Amino acid sequence: MYSEKVMDHFNNPRNVGELENPSGVGTVGNAKCGDIMRIYLDIDDNGVIQEAKFKTFGCGAAVATSSMATELVKGKTVCQALEITNKAVMEALDGLPPAKVHCSLLAEEAIHAALWDYAEKNNLTIEGLKKPVEDIEEKLED
Ligand code: FES
Repeated sequence: MYSEKVMDHFNNPRNVGELENPSGVGTVGNAKCGDIMRIYLDIDDNGVIQEAKFKTFGCGAAVATSSMATELVKGKTVCQALEITNKAVMEALDGLPPAKVHCSLLAEEAIHAALWDYAEKNNLTIEGLKKPVEDIEEKLED
């Protein structure tokens, strides 16, 4: 039911871990399945993503999509990263079963949340970027 690429990124996830002093970090969750994804970005002065790491407490597809999403954003500008949709992540993984589409959405949302954090820290406005729906970070601390 899973593509070879999904299995590869699940078994050998790329970019697992955290970044010290990240330019932006975003944590998102899905209330239904309870899975949580956190993405760290290191962005240079030219707005290019130099490094991306993730930590995912979730299903195999969430691990595979975070792994692929972090691979896709590396080397991209902030604006290019914003254009990486969950569909693009799924396509890069050669698809996901319908019940797992929401896992890829988590990856898109985590990238956006990390970009939002970066924009806030630097007083920037990134055109087209919306504020994350909820700040799961606060919930996790409760
Ligand atoms: Fe919810 Fe995969 S089952 S993120």
